[in-house]
Amino acid sequence: MAGRVEGKVALVTGGASGLGAESARRLAREGATVVLTDMAADMGQAVADGIADAGGKALFLTQDVTDEVRWAEVVRETLARFGRLDVLVNNAGIAAGGGPLLEATFEAWRHLMSINLDGVFLGMKAAAPPMVEAGRGSIINLSSILGKVGMAGTPAYSASKGGVLMLTKATALELAPLGVRVNSVHPGFIETPMVDTAFRESENSNEMRDVVISRHPMGRLGVPREIADGIVFLASDESSFMTGAELVIDGGYTAI
Ligand SMILES: NC(=O)c1ccc[n+]([C@@H]2O[C@H](COP(=O)([O-])OP(=O)(O)OC[C@H]3O[C@@H](n4cnc5c(N)ncnc54)[C@H](O)[C@@H]3O)[C@@H](O)[C@H]2O)c1
Repeated sequence: MAGRVEGKVALVTGGASGLGAESARRLAREGATVVLTDMAADMGQAVADGIADAGGKALFLTQDVTDEVRWAEVVRETLARFGRLDVLVNNAGIAAGGGPLLEATFEAWRHLMSINLDGVFLGMKAAAPPMVEAGRGSIINLSSILGKVGMAGTPAYSASKGGVLMLTKATALELAPLGVRVNSVHPGFIETPMVDTAFRESENSNEMRDVVISRHPMGRLGVPREIADGIVFLASDESSFMTGAELVIDGGYTAI
């Protein structure tokens, strides 16, 4: 039986950890050739090796998503190696830094924005031209529930993810007539190294975890597979009439 993304070539940023690693694994399992990139070279190579060991096709490339020149190289190498680029998952992101407005520094704000928002812009700038030329493509941008509803103490992260939401919609409208779909994904709190670190670094980490869980009506945090499955759906032709949409996967967090 053919996989859900059989024959497609997918580029996943931040593929060394958490949601990016799981998305890369599931895209590969459903038949895609996956190019995964990250700044964490050893971890990224290990994810690619794991995919290959499981019978999938994966290539790891080091990349800092804030580097425009590197973006051009990564897309060029993908096209040279595999002849096409069907899917871009703009997943790399950070939560650390910024902090509450009254404590935040401009430097930390700009650092977070450079990865979470500039990185998505640069990724689309680099990947959209070959997709437009081919007349097909699916771009998937990782926003967050915090791009849709506020949370005290996270102004930079929330602003970056709200920016991703509207960057996605504006680009979706521009590229819709050209055959390229652009959608955003809005996870609730998911069990990944990013969230574990945030809990660990908070003053009362167990209490903080319980408070966050209580905001999800399903009474638990999500697991990476639950986001990766949504990403496979958006990457596949099953979502062929979806563009500019917000795929919310949050255990009910934003339904309240
Ligand atoms: N985990 C959650 O609860 C959650 C919720 C909503 C949205 N998200 C978003 O999902 C995405 C993935 O989050 P995660 O939880 O898997 O985080 P994670 O920390 O486990 O993984 C993020 C990956 O991005 C990489 N990265 C960071 N900066 C980079 C850069 N400049 N260039 C290239 N790679 C870089 C890291 O090395 C890491 O491998 C992020 O955009 C995050 O904001 C996560």
